[in-house]
Amino acid sequence: MIGQLDSLLEQLDALQARAIEQLEPIETSAELEEWDNTYLGRKRGELTNLSSVMGKLSKDVRPVIGQKINAVKAELTERLATKKEALRQREMLQALEQERIDVTLPGRALPAGHMHPISRAIWDVTQIFVKMGFHVVDGPEVETDYYNFQALNMPADHPARDMQDTFWVSPGQILLRTQTSPIQIRAMQQMRPPVRVVAPGKVYRNEAIDASHEAMFHQIEGLLIDEYCTMGDLKGCLERVARELFGEGRQIRFRGSYFPFTEPSAEMDMDCPICAGKGCRTCKHTGWIELLGCGMVHPRVLREVGYDPAKYRGFAFGLGPERVAMLKYSIGEIRLFSGNDLRFLKQF
Ligand code: DAH
Repeated sequence: MIGQLDSLLEQLDALQARAIEQLEPIETSAELEEWDNTYLGRKRGELTNLSSVMGKLSKDVRPVIGQKINAVKAELTERLATKKEALRQREMLQALEQERIDVTLPGRALPAGHMHPISRAIWDVTQIFVKMGFHVVDGPEVETDYYNFQALNMPADHPARDMQDTFWVSPGQILLRTQTSPIQIRAMQQMRPPVRVVAPGKVYRNEAIDASHEAMFHQIEGLLIDEYCTMGDLKGCLERVARELFGEGRQIRFRGSYFPFTEPSAEMDMDCPICAGKGCRTCKHTGWIELLGCGMVHPRVLREVGYDPAKYRGFAFGLGPERVAMLKYSIGEIRLFSGNDLRFLKQF
């Protein structure tokens, strides 16, 4: 009996020693799991196998062996837990090391878009007016004959209509606006003086297309109405615009012209920013570049929107952002703007 007891206790000691020895070099949780199954596993674990002989032991040996088995089990279980924790720590450190982000690496550049040169020109011009207290407004591109022509002092039989070959949507009634001037009428109908607005937008004309003519282009309309307003105000305002856009040295001049909705009417030239007025290809060797049409708002236009021409007056102008962009960036071909050629657009 004593012999049986001693042999079993020895077996248990040996088992524990072997288990501990094998636990030592384990490095992965898979190996650890296998170890767990081998020694502590409930089905075929070695300790479980030894426990199954308990029933065959005599009464006085049984508790001694039982205690020993429990002690070995406790010892191994505790070592297992310690090892598990050590592995977990190590695997976490490894993961942290592998997944480490080097925040000093240069970022990956995202492709960034930018403004179309016409949008840029419109932005530049309108910002100058915004600084002077103007509001930016807009209006529909599909207009009525009334807003595009009649209200601007161009009745049905007016010869000035021939200056703007019109795309009609329904002849005599609905059209693609030929100018941004109808926005003047809409703005005055919606506001009471003083009025200070700029209105950029697309306009359409049934033109023969060439290097300087397109069937769709842009205009920026300007309008100021107040009790006191002279051509001197118009001149001062537009001179400021020319200088903000093309440099402080710019000179301007006015040439008498004709528009049905202004009286007097003028065209404004600026000395050529490319050759500083000396004469070059861009200014066709005249030294001057035509920049915009303008004038004092015609009393008939004021009356049409219910403003009293005896009390209010104002100035108006219409300027082409294509012209501004072509001068600013030395572009000789208007069709490039709507050609969607990325080689062109990427330069801005
Ligand atoms: N609407 C004119 C055109 O397209 C340009 C223009 C001239 C606008 C004089 C104005 C102006 O407001 O006062 O030819």
